Amino acid sequence: MNLILMGLPGAGKGTQAERIIDAYNIPHISTGDMFRAAMKNETALGLEAKSYMDNGDLVPDSVTNGIVKERLAEDDTAKGFLLDGFPRTIDQAQALEVMLADLGKKIDGIINIDVPTDILVDRLSGRFMCRNCGATYHKVFNPTKVEGTCDRCGAHEFYQREDDKPETVKNRLSVNVEQGAPILDFYTKKGLVHNIDGNRDILEVFKDVQSIIESL
Ligand code: AP5
Ligand code: MG
Repeated sequence: MNLILMGLPGAGKGTQAERIIDAYNIPHISTGDMFRAAMKNETALGLEAKSYMDNGDLVPDSVTNGIVKERLAEDDTAKGFLLDGFPRTIDQAQALEVMLADLGKKIDGIINIDVPTDILVDRLSGRFMCRNCGATYHKVFNPTKVEGTCDRCGAHEFYQREDDKPETVKNRLSVNVEQGAPILDFYTKKGLVHNIDGNRDILEVFKDVQSIIESL
């Protein structure tokens, strides 16, 4: 099953991805996570990505397309994959078509999580992540079961993302609103898009995600 998760920043892509990869045993390919890992390791890719991410801008297509192409060629994608946050521009969507054709693969479905913008701002300002396993939480909407302990791995250290500062969030949202519409149009014309109301409880949203996946 080859899937793409779409949605504006804070829509719940990462949150749903954690559940999808556990349920369907496919790798989670998040360009944002790949850039953050490169930043943590201070590689050349990480340093380049940081200059864009810290402002809430998109990393150039040539860089992003390159890392996705390499990642999709890895063996663990044989039974499927879940792309999260890619493609984000028309150039990326077109590059993905070529990559997949070369690999003899195709996209089975696109799950687009729809959430009003004012709700997204609240979600991003209260988000925190586990430093060890990257699990995502929210101070109010999705706290850990035991305060200070990650539900997933039991670690005790958490952090907030640099790009969740209010001024960066504003730019991220406007960049993604502008770039997202043409991509949705591109894939809607191919009959691949499944829209979900993401402004509901995490498990309710996941039930819809599961029904879509089961129907593909
Ligand atoms: P990326 O890491 O992909 O960030 P994003 O798209 O801005 O999305 P987020 O990860 O912020 O949100 P999410 O939808 O995953 O929400 P989450 O589940 O965490 O990209 C970061 C940057 O990297 C980009 O700005 C860009 O610079 C660069 N980049 C990445 N991909 C790129 C590309 N293809 N091209 C160029 N540049 C690229 O949830 C958010 C919060 O809400 C959490 O606190 C969560 O607990 C809570 N929550 C989730 N679901 C619910 C719910 N149903 N109800 C209540 N709360 C909820
Ligand atoms: Mg995410």
